[in-house]
Amino acid sequence: MKELAGKTAFVTGAASGIGLGIATALAQAGVKVMLCDIEEEALSAAVAELKKTNADVDSVRADVSLKAELQAAAEATTARYGNVHILVNNAGVGGGGPYGMWTDDGWDWTLGVNLRAVVWGIEIFGPLLEKHGEGGHIASTASIAGMISGSSNAYNVSKYGVVALSEGLRLDLAPRGIGVSVLCPGFIRTEILNHRRNLPQRFAGAFRGPPPTTGPMAEAMARIRERIAHGIDPVYVGELVREAIENDWPYIFTDTEFEPLVEMRFARIREGFDRIRARVPKR
Ligand SMILES: NC(=O)c1ccc[n+]([C@@H]2O[C@H](COP(=O)([O-])OP(=O)(O)OC[C@H]3O[C@@H](n4cnc5c(N)ncnc54)[C@H](O)[C@@H]3O)[C@@H](O)[C@H]2O)c1
Repeated sequence: MKELAGKTAFVTGAASGIGLGIATALAQAGVKVMLCDIEEEALSAAVAELKKTNADVDSVRADVSLKAELQAAAEATTARYGNVHILVNNAGVGGGGPYGMWTDDGWDWTLGVNLRAVVWGIEIFGPLLEKHGEGGHIASTASIAGMISGSSNAYNVSKYGVVALSEGLRLDLAPRGIGVSVLCPGFIRTEILNHRRNLPQRFAGAFRGPPPTTGPMAEAMARIRERIAHGIDPVYVGELVREAIENDWPYIFTDTEFEPLVEMRFARIREGFDRIRARVPKR
């Protein structure tokens, strides 16, 4: 979608971090942006800040892991701005521990926000993007954790899901004039590790107690916390997403730090084929 000025975008998880960075970059390009988030106060503050730059922005509160709330947010967006051209499925939580720490609520919360809401976003907004014939784009935030998995946790599973969904959807929607991108960030300077602030009551059993303060898990968390604290600027990520929408990039990476691990995964997959290459399958 070459010409962004005057178009309308709906961005989830827009009160903080990458979502706010994307909303900012789109608003700077003259896009009307409906910011959606579960956190009402942060949402109002984000909108007030963006309005100081004369951006045409508004907000709607929704828990995207509830389909009815996402549907109501879509209705609020069309009532406010009319045609919608850009959907950014970005809201996410870092939930879910590895094997041995799994909980049903942890899986349900993480898959609900990070994956199910993306499916619903596409289901609800897809027809709205298609119906006016002015073109459209869907960008969804996965993670580099959607390309490489170092842990058996719900987060990685949800992010692989967003990559799979986006890759398939791109084929489905290209003939309909809708572009599809998947964003796979590395470490970005956001509030993601403070995700327990967004835990809805219905998933209250997601965690087996407070985060560990000693031991290997605590040390790993401290290292990640450090990397995120010194991570990439979310507005820089937003600018990449804007460029991706303008040029219909399938994959949006923020940096090359994890490229060797992606290559290593490809090599292991290739080894899997090599192992059986000379065999003739029994049918
Ligand atoms: N920060 C990173 O290093 C990083 C790396 C890879 C991927 N990501 C992904 O980027 C996306 C944005 O996260 P971030 O890093 O900006 O974190 P963040 O916590 O700063 O922002 C996430 C936003 O999502 C909102 N949110 C959470 N649950 C919600 C719900 N149920 N309904 C509506 N909104 C909800 C939060 O209120 C918050 O405003 C996530 O999908 C995350 O998985 C982040």
